[in-house]
Amino acid sequence: MRRIIVAIDGYSSCGKSTIAKQLAEYAGYTYVDTGAMYRAVALALQEGLFSPEQLDGLQGVRVGFTNNHVTLNGVDVEDKIRTLEIGNLASQVSPVPEIRRFLVAQQQAMGAAKGIVMDGRDIGTVVFPDAELKLFLTASAEVRAKRRYDELAGKGQSPVYEEVLADVRDRDYRDTHRAESPLRQAPDAILIDNSEMTREEQMQRIIALFNERIR
Ligand code: DC
Repeated sequence: MRRIIVAIDGYSSCGKSTIAKQLAEYAGYTYVDTGAMYRAVALALQEGLFSPEQLDGLQGVRVGFTNNHVTLNGVDVEDKIRTLEIGNLASQVSPVPEIRRFLVAQQQAMGAAKGIVMDGRDIGTVVFPDAELKLFLTASAEVRAKRRYDELAGKGQSPVYEEVLADVRDRDYRDTHRAESPLRQAPDAILIDNSEMTREEQMQRIIALFNERIR
């Protein structure tokens, strides 16, 4: 059985990471959450590790993973990056071409040996245009806002549903309208709308597709 690259793209909060992590576990593959990498760069900016005026400062920023937790210069920042504030900042830094080039090169190196499940916005279009399996996940904005609301509330934050929904819509707009690597479905990606699907149904569908491709 061959080792492949699985590229999972889609809108924010449509369950990409959960499904990607589960598939990676099933396959015994490495999982890479590229959104976490953009969030870590946003945190680096917030912490003054580089400035938008001096992007060569990025060379001193190290983003990595330890046990699926993102690290910034060796420090686990998984909790710090999972806030609405960093999500918004990530959405502002991610259109910057120098930042994308910086992270895309690292993502391509991570997939050089295949056996990887990577999720993001541009994985099937830019990072791995030759990925053997490409999935494009979506769900309605309301369903995604509800999921994000539950996630934030579960972490002890006090979200307001209308604000979360507005935020999801803003982010969709920015992700799909930016000049640099906008979110779009690759022509050969399989569309999965999970608004009305259980996680289990979705997983079974994806595992079937995966097993077809590794044969
Ligand atoms: O999936 P997420 O919410 O953690 O992503 C954070 C931000 O990073 C989001 O605004 C989209 C952006 N992003 C991107 O531009 N390209 C990727 N491959 C992954 C995320």
